[in-house]
Amino acid sequence: MERRDFIKASCAFCGIAMIPGVISSCKKTPSNKSVNFTLDLTNSSNSALKSVGGSVVSNDVLVMCTAANTYAAVADACTHEGCALNYDASSKQVACPCHGGRFSTAGDVISGPPKTALQKFNVSKSGDILTITS
Ligand code: FES
Repeated sequence: MERRDFIKASCAFCGIAMIPGVISSCKKTPSNKSVNFTLDLTNSSNSALKSVGGSVVSNDVLVMCTAANTYAAVADACTHEGCALNYDASSKQVACPCHGGRFSTAGDVISGPPKTALQKFNVSKSGDILTITS
């Protein structure tokens, strides 16, 4: 194989290999999805939800502790281009790091490029168990 052909072939391979990485950086915005799962607050992976302002992502859902024993849950992917969302406890809003989109904890668009609300989920608490349902 000629050096020039090798470089062409290598670049083509690299281009193909990079596509999944590019695609995975933007999550596909989920349509209305059905969920029914629990989070055990005694599990260390969910301990952030024991504090007001804490949040956890599970099953593509952003679960937030918005006040003492008060929880909210929305889809974790921005409706603009699918970036992973964060809970901004200081503003009590859901924030998108990609283009500055902002949502309420009920999923409604507050500002930025998103035009569509986030899917909202129900959260109930029984003892140390949160149940998240659509
Ligand atoms: S992907 Fe969230 S504002 Fe653009």
